[in-house]
Amino acid sequence: MMDYTDRHCRYLMRLLSPSALLYTEMVTDKALLHGDHSRLLAFDAAEQPVALQLGGNDPKELAIAAKLGEQYGYREINLNCGCPSDRVRSGRFGACLMAEPERVAECVSTLLATVKIPVTVKCRIGIEPGMTDRDDLSFLHHFVDVVASAGCRVFIVHARRAVLGGLSPKENREVPPLRYDVVQQVRHVFPALTFVLNGGIRALDQVATLLPGYDGVMIGREAYQNPYLLAELHKYYYDISWLPDRAHVLQAYGEYVATQLQVGERLNQMIRHVLGLYHGMPGARSWRRFLSEGVVRNPASVSLLSDSLRIVTGQA
Ligand SMILES: Cc1cc2nc3c(=O)[nH]c(=O)nc-3n(C[C@H](O)[C@H](O)[C@H](O)COP(=O)(O)O)c2cc1C
Repeated sequence: MMDYTDRHCRYLMRLLSPSALLYTEMVTDKALLHGDHSRLLAFDAAEQPVALQLGGNDPKELAIAAKLGEQYGYREINLNCGCPSDRVRSGRFGACLMAEPERVAECVSTLLATVKIPVTVKCRIGIEPGMTDRDDLSFLHHFVDVVASAGCRVFIVHARRAVLGGLSPKENREVPPLRYDVVQQVRHVFPALTFVLNGGIRALDQVATLLPGYDGVMIGREAYQNPYLLAELHKYYYDISWLPDRAHVLQAYGEYVATQLQVGERLNQMIRHVLGLYHGMPGARSWRRFLSEGVVRNPASVSLLSDSLRIVTGQA
């Protein structure tokens, strides 16, 4: 998630879940072509498996960016066809690409010819305007049909339309209604493809209810605001004996933060990701305040996270 997640965030998420596939925020092909790719792509091997999400619409430029991603060790290239922001729309990529499935197909086939890792697509169920008289089901069906014919096997679908123009990105994640049923119906039409459901998933019991109907779920905001959910999901699906102690996670993340401070990373950029760790637990508010004030008081503190433990000691 742009402006939220980064490699530090993924390091923390990996401490909580050995199994989840983690995605980068969208990185544009142009940023990689013209910018400092080490700053944009470097990550810690402990974060694996990590997928690189690219934004762009030019097959050749995307291919160069994807090749770089593969060289840096990413396990998957994901093409963003779901971002509705004005800036992205003016560059003619993101969600507006859903109006041009043939172009997406061309991007996918060029990417598949360039990299050996899987190439996947993240999209919406549809876009407004741009669906002419098609309903959600036939629009998504057509998009998937064309893009799958180019070799894409995995579709991650944010199950609401994107409204291009008139809504802020935040409203675009809340206002158009969620239509999980559309994703499920399209999945039935393409049993050989993998459909990962995204949008509004916030709790373990919700995942347990939904998951039999899909091949996977992607969790965005809730994973950021309440990252311990990832640990609960891992325990539920993979290992009934494993549920990490929050204090141990905090300690381990603190050790990581100390090493990152030594190479010039900024404390506030790393602390912000951990603020949801005690979400819903007693003492969480005082603990968050301790961290937020501590970063301001001493932006180079290597012991802030371990010092904060005394506020939440006794919490699992
Ligand atoms: C601040 C923010 C930034 C986001 N950036 C991206 C992005 O870079 N790429 C992407 O595919 N989706 C992005 N999203 C959308 C989420 O990945 C997700 O599709 C959406 O929030 C719905 O899922 P959720 O209800 O689980 O959050 C972003 C969402 C938020 C809140």
